[in-house]
Amino acid sequence: MYASFKAIGAYVPSKSLTNRDLEKMVDTSDEWIRQRTGIENRYIAAEDEYTSDLGAKAAELAISRSGLAKEEIDMIICATITPDYLCMPSTACVIADKLGISNVMAFDISAACSGFVYALNIAKAFIESGLKKNVLIIGAEKLSAIIDYSDRTTCILFGDGAGAAIIGTTEEREASLLDIHTSADGAFQDFLITPGGGVKNPCSPDVIDRHLHYLKMKGNETFKLAVNTLTKDVTRILEKNSLSSEHIDFFVPHQANFRIIDAVGRKLKFTKEQVVLTVHKYGNTSAASIPMAINDWYESGKLKHGDLMLLDTFGGGLTWGSALVYFNQRD
Ligand code: UT7
Repeated sequence: MYASFKAIGAYVPSKSLTNRDLEKMVDTSDEWIRQRTGIENRYIAAEDEYTSDLGAKAAELAISRSGLAKEEIDMIICATITPDYLCMPSTACVIADKLGISNVMAFDISAACSGFVYALNIAKAFIESGLKKNVLIIGAEKLSAIIDYSDRTTCILFGDGAGAAIIGTTEEREASLLDIHTSADGAFQDFLITPGGGVKNPCSPDVIDRHLHYLKMKGNETFKLAVNTLTKDVTRILEKNSLSSEHIDFFVPHQANFRIIDAVGRKLKFTKEQVVLTVHKYGNTSAASIPMAINDWYESGKLKHGDLMLLDTFGGGLTWGSALVYFNQRD
């Protein structure tokens, strides 16, 4: 029995934040943002709309597309770096309650932008070991809550949103989560970091005055490492499975920066049509970015049952991962 990608769903908040809006907030320009990142727009959750709300809406759609009854879901994993609560309860537990699902294992994972691919790997392990049958995985982020809107180096990049998938079972290898590779290197922990609010720098007036509770990024260093690591990781997973870029229907990279996606896509010889691109619409939504991109391609009619996707991600930790996944949702 193999794990299989049975359904996708996503939710995008209604309020948009354009480059023109950001021009009024910090010293930046629409032209700079487009040229350096490819981003034109991002969406921001309402003040009283939390990560669990975004996640629950994405999950509702994925569950309905899967045809499963909620009682058939036996595990919920939420990947997020913007949980509703800092320590507990987990956002997965809050989402479970909003969905009306109880008595199932539910927990969050913190792997930043790689969170969805990490969750996919955990779901695969639980299903293929026979412990679980239908796992709901969610990538949900309200990044606007941890963004410093006076820091032009980060505030132009990030947006809010959620994506969710149902991972079930199949007997066919050509409908499975074929292979997943996930990894990390803590030596680069300060490349993407929220220094305050945790145990090391607990919340205090000083932490807030120094904006330490906001996301900080060494953008240029992260950029270079991302291109090299992603290219190596994708090459490795393709070689390991005796595949090359022509065998892939859609390359679904983490949507952080068009220039990273373009550089990796070119090195791996993917055509423009193979590369899934949503960064211009949503910005970087961290753990939500890959499932939101898959949902976009599905809803636009491009992604079809049986297509082979290559997912590829990189983020804070530093963490990274890649996955070869057959899309097994039936309309
Ligand atoms: O999702 C997790 C993984 N994250 C990533 O992969 C993000 C990786 N990094 C990036 O996407 C890019 O590094 C950025 C888009 C963040 C920055 O682009 P860059 O080409 O690396 O620019 P830079 O940091 O080298 O900055 C170049 C110049 C600097 O000015 P000086 O020192 O040359 O005078 C910055 O101060 O651009 C300036 N700058 C800006 N100018 C206008 C930085 N941010 C802005 C801005 N508007 N928003």
